[in-house]
Formats: sequence, C-alpha cells, structure tokens
Amino acid sequence: MTNSRWQSLSLGKLRVRELSQASYQQGDYTGWFEKLYAEAQGDLNAIPWADRDVSHWLADWIETSQFNLQDRRVLVVGCGLGDDAKYLAQLGAKVTAFDLSQTAIDWCHQRFPNSQVNYQAVDLFTAPANWKLSFDLVIEIYTIQALPANIRPNAIDCIGNFVAPNGKLLVVCRGRNPEDPAGELPPFALTQSELNKFTDRGLQQISFEDFIDTLESGSPRRFRIVYQR
Ligand SMILES: C[S@@+](CC[C@H](N)C(=O)[O-])C[C@H]1O[C@@H](n2cnc3c(N)ncnc32)[C@H](O)[C@@H]1O
Repeated sequence: MTNSRWQSLSLGKLRVRELSQASYQQGDYTGWFEKLYAEAQGDLNAIPWADRDVSHWLADWIETSQFNLQDRRVLVVGCGLGDDAKYLAQLGAKVTAFDLSQTAIDWCHQRFPNSQVNYQAVDLFTAPANWKLSFDLVIEIYTIQALPANIRPNAIDCIGNFVAPNGKLLVVCRGRNPEDPAGELPPFALTQSELNKFTDRGLQQISFEDFIDTLESGSPRRFRIVYQR
C-alpha cells in the first residue's frame, strides 16, 4: 500500500468513528453511512471499506465451492460501491444489490454504467416484502458488523428471510470470543453465538471458518460462514 493510500485510509477510519459517534448520540444508528458517502464526493480513498475490487473472501468461496451462478437469483446486502455485485453478475447471476445510501447507489451506477446489476437504494429493515425467501444466494459482507448490538438481531432476521428454500447465505465479518471487548463504535467484531441467530430462522449452518485476515491492515480475526435453507 502506498503511503498516501495508507494516510487516506487512516483518515477515513477516523471519520467513520466521528460520524458514527455523532449519529449514535442522536439515537440514529445508520444515518452516518450516507453522510460518509456524500462527504467523500466521489473520492474512493475516503471510504475505508472501498477495496475497488471484488472481496477476496467472496471470490475465493465462489471458486472453491464451485457455486454455479448462471441465472441464479443473488442478493448483495449493503453493497457499498458495488464491486461484489458486479463480479457476481459477470459470472451469470441475476443480481440485485442494495444499500441504504442513495449516494453509494448513484456511485455504483457511475462506476459500472453497463453492469446488469439491479442496484437499489433500500433500507434492510424496510426491504420489499417480495424479497422474502426469494434469493438462491444472499451475500452479506461487513454490513452486520457495521451496526450496533441493539439492532443486529433484527438485521440478522431480515437478512435470513431473503434466502429461498435450498438457497445459501454467505456471511463474512469480524469475529471475537464472547469474553473479548465488543467495542463501542464500528466495526464491531461478532460472536459465534449471536450469528447462531441465523439458525433460529430455518437456516442450517453448513460451514464455519475462523481465521486471521492478513490481507487487511491490522490483520483482524474473521468469520466466514455459509448457511443453507
Ligand atoms: C462496512 S460497509 C460494507 C460495504 C460492502 N459490503 C463491502 O464489503 O465493501 C457497510 C454497508 O452497509 C450499508 N448499510 C448499513 N446499514 C444498512 C441498512 N440498514 N440497509 C442497507 N444497507 C445498509 C452501508 O451504507 C455500507 O455501504
């Protein structure tokens, strides 16, 4: 990583803390995302999670599991700047990708004007009723961990509901043991037991990986989990 990219990343992470803290103080747990995207004014360096490419942990899972994406209905939760969704559509999936932030969705359209992805500004908590049980594959990368503990159970319920019968859900997040500190500002590391809530809603856990992500600065502990309905 270049020095200037590292500096931008540090500033972006600091801004996440400032904006989320101010938002939380007003009892608003998600309003800061739109502020961060709007403030960035098209500068990818200002968004700490903008990898400018498909997530390594998603592409790796698609390749190793040999999941056949052709014509499958795929939903990308909290799609951010849209790279994961674009990748899945290029492999033949019919992809819907949504984010709470209208600015992020506008940015997806600008970055990928020819993509077949249906990018939409939608709040997870008020998603269209006809998305229920409708997707063969749901991708959730780093959205739950960006939400505080009081709204995470509801987020898990909403995400689990999107998975169609026999469909799969891929979750990638920061992980911790229950005795480790939870932190007060995002990103929050999640415990295995809170993720088990997915299995209360008719999903079965089919794999659980616990590893150190040496590709990210700070080498955080990660969980990558696959569920199936
Ligand atoms: C940490 S970012 C991760 C973005 C992307 N998944 C990635 O891996 O680069 C979390 C994303 O979730 C979105 N988000 C947060 N709360 C949401 C909600 N309630 N509904 C939809 N999107 C939400 C944010 O706007 C942000 O783009």
